[in-house]
This record gives sequence, structure tokens and C-alpha cells, in this order.
Amino acid sequence: MTQFEDSRAFAQACDRDDALAAFRGQFNFPVEKDGRAPIYLCGNSLGLQPQLAVDYVNEELANWHHYAVDGHFHTAHPWVTYHRRAVSGFVALTGARESEVIAMNTLTVNLHILMASFYRPEGKRRKILIEAGAFPSDQYAAASQLRLHGFDPASDLLLWAPREGKLHLETDDLAAMLDREGDEIALLLLPGVQYYTGQVLDMATICELGAMHGCVVGLDLAHAVGNVPLSLHEWGPDFASWCTYKYLNAGPGAIAGAFVHERHHNNDRFLHGWWGNRLETRFKMRPDFDAAVGAEAWQMSNPPILALAPVVASLHLFEQAGFDALRSKSLQLTAYLDWLVEKRFGAQIGTITPEEARGCQLSLVVRDRSIDARGLFDKLCELNVTGDWRYPDVIRVAPVPLYNSFEDAYEFAERLGMALSAIRS
Ligand SMILES: Cc1ncc(COP(=O)(O)O)c(C=O)c1O
Repeated sequence: MTQFEDSRAFAQACDRDDALAAFRGQFNFPVEKDGRAPIYLCGNSLGLQPQLAVDYVNEELANWHHYAVDGHFHTAHPWVTYHRRAVSGFVALTGARESEVIAMNTLTVNLHILMASFYRPEGKRRKILIEAGAFPSDQYAAASQLRLHGFDPASDLLLWAPREGKLHLETDDLAAMLDREGDEIALLLLPGVQYYTGQVLDMATICELGAMHGCVVGLDLAHAVGNVPLSLHEWGPDFASWCTYKYLNAGPGAIAGAFVHERHHNNDRFLHGWWGNRLETRFKMRPDFDAAVGAEAWQMSNPPILALAPVVASLHLFEQAGFDALRSKSLQLTAYLDWLVEKRFGAQIGTITPEEARGCQLSLVVRDRSIDARGLFDKLCELNVTGDWRYPDVIRVAPVPLYNSFEDAYEFAERLGMALSAIRS
């Protein structure tokens, strides 16, 4: 790691040395506020707009205009196979094989669709395990799947929690739970990166433990994809899904990604729709379903092209930048921001994100209880800093290597200082 310095000149020098710096110019930033440029550190929630996304959406609007229904087959990127344009990008970011990934639906919808295939309670093996404090949608999805099967979440939804007085999940505790009651657990539904603390979980070991105990493993990669390295094929979860509006910068509600491991590609237990039928026979309009090969078979409807175009555009930027280069910049950038906060404000503000297991995100907490944390967050907003507030007391900030600079990290520290002074006066 670089020896950091607390100066704007140092941050600017890091930006000059940054081989990825030019990507920043390919994104549209939000507006100035009171003459202050935005410090946007919210890629963990909604990534910024790539200019290429605007071009790709406009291209499809023009195709719709000029070719109407013929756009399905007779344009440069026919809509009938448009979703395949996301495959190579997803493969590069997830370590999946081409046949294992698909761009479809949205994240929670995919979790349900995949649970319809993979949550198959039998006898006493019927419980679902999630992490305590999981993102609400995952809690609701898991609990409602249990109810759909006639079970009671009060007894059948298990929570993997941090130890008493601790914040982070320990894989050893999961192993112990599985030793105790693994034969009653049908499904582990766990995140790659915990949304609140920013902890990166040991996904390889989770998959190994699940397989050892005969449990299906599903991963929610909302905060992991485009952020931390993934090797899905090798780790071997049964299924996974991720949204594309956070680190993948594909826009609000953009089409999500899904993964189905190759070993399930002959599985016929899934919900059928015509877009999951092989392309070669799809338009023969037969009554019998003729499944496509791989994850594509899980696709049900013809996808919304205007919401897919930004996914494709954004993945192209990732391919140009290269994920390894992004990850190594990300480690430096987040470490710099963390270092500045600790050096300047360590007595008042700390981070609950584990240094040894993190992506871009830092979850900041106010240590000094005399400071009103929510008031501090509101002051930061006034100063045109965008992070996000997560109830009850966390301010999440995520410097993103594709478009954030070292000077953004420095300027964040400056404005945090201003916000602290303002709130105390
Ligand atoms: C971890 C996690 N799971 C699920 C969701 C829900 O995503 P969607 O609204 O796209 O279904 C989110 C959204 O931020 C999330 O962070």
C-alpha cells in the first residue's frame, strides 16, 4: 500500500498516476449545489450514468422508430438476442461460464424465480438460512417462500448472526450451525457483501459448507458484482442473482443478472415462458416447451430492451477498464478515504467495515455520542456530498474506482470536517 499523505496535492498526484482516471470523464455527474461540485460516493446504491448508456438507449429508440417490429431481427443487434450482449461482461465479473449467466428481470424477482427451482423442502430438510440483518427484500422473499410451502418463518427461517457484542459474521459460526442443524436446512440464501456493514463474506467456504451439508446455496450479489472478485463457477453456488444499478451503473431498476450453475442445466424444475424456449423453435409456436440450454432457459419474457441497453453499455466500460485494475485501484481509494477519516476524525467517527474483507464501501458510524449522526448526514447532503443513510446509525460511502478520484476522497474529508464544525456550532 502507498504511504498516504493528507494533502490535496498528494490526492491530485495519485489521480495523475491513475491509469483509469480517464473513465471519470465518461460519466455524467449530478449538478452543483451552491457552487459546490458533487462528491458522489453512492455507487453502492445507484451508480452514475455512463454517457455510453445514453448512446445505447438512443440507438434502440432510433431502431424502434425506424424499424418497429423488424427491430427484433433486422438491426445491428437484433432484440431477439439482445440479452446475450450482456453475457461476456457478466462472465468477466462473476467468473461464470457463458451458459451460466443471463440478464433478466430484477433482483428480488430473480430470487423468487430461482427459489421456485431450488428451494425444494423435503421431510425435515425445509429451513432457509439467511444472515441476521439481511436486506429486507431478502428477508421478505425467504419468509414468503416458507409461507408458500406452508411453513412458519418463526421456526423455519434461521439467522446467522454476529457473536454477542460483535458486528461481523464469522464463517466458523455458520459451520457450527450447519453441524448442529444442517440436515434441517434446505437453502442458504446469503449475500456476497453484507449491505449494512460492507463485510465481504467468504463465499467460497460458504459454498463448500453448503455442499458438504446437502444444502442448496443461493447468493445475492447486489453489493458484490463489479465490486469484489467473484469465481462463481469454481465456488459452485447453485444459483445467484445481482442487480445492475449499483456498481454496474445501468440505471434505476435496470435489468438484473442471474447465475445457474452448469450442473443444473438439465434441471427441468423451473418456471417456463416463451423466451426460455430455444430460439430455433421459439417461433414455431408449439404447445410443448423446448428448453434453451443453460441459464437462458430461466428467462420467461422478452426483455425490456430500453432497460437492457444501459447494462450492455456499462459492461463494455468494465471490459475496457479490466476488473483486476479496477479492484486494485478500489483497494487504494477506499484505504485512502478510510485513512483520512481515521487520521482527522478518529476520535469522533469510525468505520464498521472490516479492513481485511471489504469492497468499495465504508460504513461510517459516529463514535462520539454527543454528535447527532443524522444531523451530520444532513449537513453532508447540504454540502453536496452524496452517501446514504442506513437506519439506525450508519452513513455509507463508497468511492467507486470507475469514476471516483483520490481528490474526491480528499474533498470528502474536507467537507466532513465542515459538516462536523457546522453541527457543533
Ligand atoms: C442486498 C440486496 N438485496 C435485494 C435488493 C432489492 O433489489 P431489487 O429492488 O432490485 O429487487 C437490494 C437493493 O438494494 C439489495 O441491496
